[in-house]
Amino acid sequence: MSNSLEMNKIFAAILTAGVTFGAAGVIGRLIVHPTMPHHSAIQIGEPAPVQAVAAIAAPTIEPITPLLASANAQNGQQLAQRQCASCHSFNEGGRSGVGPNLHAIVGSKHAHSEGFNYSAAIRGMASKTWGYEELNAWIANPRGYVAGNKMTYAGLASVQSRADLIAYLRSISPNAPAP
Ligand code: HEC
Repeated sequence: MSNSLEMNKIFAAILTAGVTFGAAGVIGRLIVHPTMPHHSAIQIGEPAPVQAVAAIAAPTIEPITPLLASANAQNGQQLAQRQCASCHSFNEGGRSGVGPNLHAIVGSKHAHSEGFNYSAAIRGMASKTWGYEELNAWIANPRGYVAGNKMTYAGLASVQSRADLIAYLRSISPNAPAP
């Protein structure tokens, strides 16, 4: 009899300990789990993919504005003849070809050439002005500038070349703003 009472006491003690331990575990997890592992998962797991995506989505395009004052517009004209003239004319009233005439492009709106059959992507930006850095981004990477445009040009990688080219475009743009 006393033996079984003893057993019951031990059993009760183990049960109590177990329940307490289990409850402590649950409470502990409630307190600790939502904060600690969550945080470390973000800090350790996520920055790399986020940065990789950002690097793909927005490759840094060096600004040309600081280079414009000393840019070589004559070199820019030669670049324009070599890189752009197969599709674009630059003279006032010049005909559009595969691409629109680019006279007065700096300071004009997107889709500035009346009668040219622009893509919906460029027409959709018709309220935006072609400033220096817009042209810089466009010429560096037309596809990255706006998806769905139809200028099949790979892009001009050299920031100095882009500055020279845009200095030339400025020289044929009577309404160009100060850089
Ligand atoms: C293979 C032909 C081709 C070449 C090469 C080309 N472009 Fe274009 N360009 C186009 C076409 C087509 C469009 C119209 C894009 C659209 O509607 O989506 C365009 C549009 C533009 C526009 C926008 C004009 C506007 O009215 O909004 C600019 C600025 C421009 N090009 C500059 C250049 C410059 C600068 C170069 C040389 C570095 C160049 N392009 C090379 C075909 C070309």
